[in-house]
Amino acid sequence: MLRVLCFLLAFLSLVFATQKILKVPLYVRRSFNESEVFLARSATEGGETLQLQLLLQTHNNMEYYGTIAMGNPRQNFTVIFDTGSSNTWLPSVNCPMSNSACQNHRKYNSSRSSSYIPDGRNFTLRYGSGMVVGYLSKDTMHIAGAELPHFTFGESLFLQHFAFSSVKFDGLVGLGLGVLSWSNTTPFLELLCAQRLLEKCVFSVYLRRDPREIVFGGFDESKFEGKLHYVPVSQWHTWSLQISKSSVGTKQIGGKSNAILDTGTSLVLVPQQTYHNLLNTLSAKLQNGYFVVACKSGSLPNINILIGDKVFPLTSSDYIMEVLLDRKPACVLAIAPINRGFWVLGDIFLRRYYTVFDATEKRIGLAKAK
Ligand SMILES: *[C@@H]1O[C@H](CO)[C@@H](O)[C@H](O)[C@H]1NC(C)=O
Ligand SMILES: *[C@@H]1O[C@H](CO)[C@@H](O)[C@H](O)[C@H]1NC(C)=O
Ligand SMILES: *[C@@H]1O[C@H](CO)[C@@H](O)[C@H](O)[C@H]1NC(C)=O
Ligand SMILES: *[C@@H]1O[C@H](CO)[C@@H](O)[C@H](O)[C@H]1NC(C)=O
Repeated sequence: MLRVLCFLLAFLSLVFATQKILKVPLYVRRSFNESEVFLARSATEGGETLQLQLLLQTHNNMEYYGTIAMGNPRQNFTVIFDTGSSNTWLPSVNCPMSNSACQNHRKYNSSRSSSYIPDGRNFTLRYGSGMVVGYLSKDTMHIAGAELPHFTFGESLFLQHFAFSSVKFDGLVGLGLGVLSWSNTTPFLELLCAQRLLEKCVFSVYLRRDPREIVFGGFDESKFEGKLHYVPVSQWHTWSLQISKSSVGTKQIGGKSNAILDTGTSLVLVPQQTYHNLLNTLSAKLQNGYFVVACKSGSLPNINILIGDKVFPLTSSDYIMEVLLDRKPACVLAIAPINRGFWVLGDIFLRRYYTVFDATEKRIGLAKAK
């Protein structure tokens, strides 16, 4: 009898364990548009809301997007999963014909969904070159076979043209924590965890090569080498950690600093003084608005980022983009300065390092991506 019970329990826990891991495949689109897109995000630092102007050079604008559905019957959308913000929005069927950025994408129609619940409050998200404006609605979100009922998201009536017209994704799902979200709304990750749809309140991001994926509820050991190196989240309301030191080769370029892990930023952004030191150490020269470095193969040193007691190097193939300047091939830095006291570790870093975002233990795990 006991044996049967044990077997049954083991069987049940297996069933639940497999139900509570949600895998969402991610696809990549490279954009070679010459124009530059400025995105910004609202972040809070010590209670003060700041507006970060994040530079996405579209030379290197790799969009990593996945699919979700909203409503019943399902309406499908491609979305960016953004660890740097907490709000979720989709273009609305009610956006005017005059808004081409909205018309270029799939639109959510609440009249077609039996599970739609009106909210009606307005929202505005400010971006560096414009904004997203609309109103809040509630519906069931479908993600990787799971259902998330009563999820509050934004229906966008206005999408700023320059930033959103040519992107592949329709909307954005914020994976940040509550403090950054609209007042009195529960952001995606918190709702997912509160409704006990996950084994653990954790998600993991793998961007290196196909099949790329984001895993909710755990991590995928086949996607990284060695052990995960865990460090505490440094400021609980953002997915951030502390960098102890940064250097190029053996030369130090920066000291202790906070860093935000941000899937919504293509590049790595560093504080001004660190950037200045980086440019000097790499003998970078300004040309057509880009910092160009000499890059005969293998000639550039690693940028070493010390996190906890472990070094996470970025090699030149991670931090250099090859572009045409005046029709000649040139190597430009995929690292940009930020007018703040912290780093932003965007996709360039996250491609190299598998990252576990653990809300249960308030920690971040890093390991070299396979
Ligand atoms: C780049 O994007 C801008 C703005 O969306 C668009 O007007 C332009 O035609 C695009 N250029 C190329 C080469 O695709
Ligand atoms: C939505 O996506 C699902 C799953 O990928 C697919 O089976 C379905 O056909 C899609 N529906 C529409 C209307 O595209
Ligand atoms: C939204 O869906 C309703 C119900 O199916 C339909 O009557 C309406 O035309 C749709 N709106 C648009 C703008 O497509
Ligand atoms: C929301 O915005 C619309 C127009 O964009 C306006 O007519 C309406 O009064 C606003 N509602 C609230 C509650 O502010």
